[in-house]
Amino acid sequence: MAHLKHSSHPLRPGTEVLTRGFDPTLSVGSARPALFRCSTYVFSSPEAAERSFAVSTGRAQAEAGEHVELIYARLNHPNAEILEDQMVPLEPGAKAAAVFNSGLAAIMTAFLTFARPEDTIVYTAPLYGGTQHLIHELLEPFGVTCVAVPAGNGFELDEAIRAARNLRIVFIETPANPTMMMTDIRQAATAASLRGDGVVVMVDNTFLGPTFQHPLSVGADMVLYSATKYLSGFSDLIAGAALAGDPDLIRPMRLRRAIFGNILPPDECWLLDGRLPTVTLRMNRQSKNAQRIAERLAVHPKVRKVHYPTLFDDPEQVRIRLAQCAYPGAIFSMQLLGGKPAAFDFLRNLKIARNAVSLGGVETLACHPMTTTHSGLTPQEHRLAGITDGLVRISVGIEDWRDLLEDFAQALEGV
Ligand SMILES: Cc1ncc(COP(=O)(O)O)c(C=O)c1O
Repeated sequence: MAHLKHSSHPLRPGTEVLTRGFDPTLSVGSARPALFRCSTYVFSSPEAAERSFAVSTGRAQAEAGEHVELIYARLNHPNAEILEDQMVPLEPGAKAAAVFNSGLAAIMTAFLTFARPEDTIVYTAPLYGGTQHLIHELLEPFGVTCVAVPAGNGFELDEAIRAARNLRIVFIETPANPTMMMTDIRQAATAASLRGDGVVVMVDNTFLGPTFQHPLSVGADMVLYSATKYLSGFSDLIAGAALAGDPDLIRPMRLRRAIFGNILPPDECWLLDGRLPTVTLRMNRQSKNAQRIAERLAVHPKVRKVHYPTLFDDPEQVRIRLAQCAYPGAIFSMQLLGGKPAAFDFLRNLKIARNAVSLGGVETLACHPMTTTHSGLTPQEHRLAGITDGLVRISVGIEDWRDLLEDFAQALEGV
């Protein structure tokens, strides 16, 4: 896809996302990307078909500037190309992207591209429950050794990275879902680079990216997203993405994607593409709302503790936040006094916020991780992660924060 020509300095992300990756002359002059709902593509010649197959199966590399014709929409399609091109400027340090039909599909494809039986993955815990499930249900039975390290424990993470046999992947989710514990990405990347054997450091950046945290700028090799969340922003589609500074990390994932058949389909690409230009606007508003609400709820008599980056009391967590995150983001968790009955009463009493899993949408959602998103964890994993009976997780939307605060206050009154 064509890139806009410009003169002296590189365009900034907010402009690039609206100007690159899309050439109106290729779609009858439409000013915004058209939707290409098509399963197969017509070749200009049998030679062009032969070349396309050689490149798309990894037997040959495309030359710089070469136009390789499209083949079939499980391999690639125009809406995926446009979306991937437009995502890249939003992630500082990224040079290539690949989109998937869910966040978990992006993570699974990353794992199965870089790890084989007998290899080791070191990961921070807690993770999103689905990722933890993927590790236990697929990777471990497949023969991959998976070593959990408590989020935020830089010393243990360094040690695990140093000691692992056949280490292929370091997987970090920061802040961790749902406790908001942060892990120092730069420290982990430094530890991985000391091994000198091509370990891929991956960061699930769903909670704070692409606006407030830039893992590739602090040494990570790959960023993964549930694009279902902030990137899409309206809780109406499921999508995932992987971005890297080195296109050679994304290329083998595209080959796996063609085998798995988990590319993001054209309709979802087109929808998601239209949401990218507003992701920073939405996240800024959501983060401001969340900070105002979380800091007020932290002193509520029915709340034991609010987990939110501006309320960290551990000096190491404060250090990581200041070094790694521009703003605190729009998710917080609170431990209610009174355990599970209090948490359930609170969720039942909400009138504006809705009791649903997921996050990152323009509407406010609240859930009880212990019995929903993280119900598959063992009691030991719950303990290690700090997920308790009284914990509720809240994803703050773009409503007026004063209405949300009143809603939370009245819901707490009825606990
Ligand atoms: C941090 C994080 N990573 C990954 C996922 C999985 O994303 P998806 O539901 O798009 O597969 C989620 C979903 O909630 C998540 O919260």
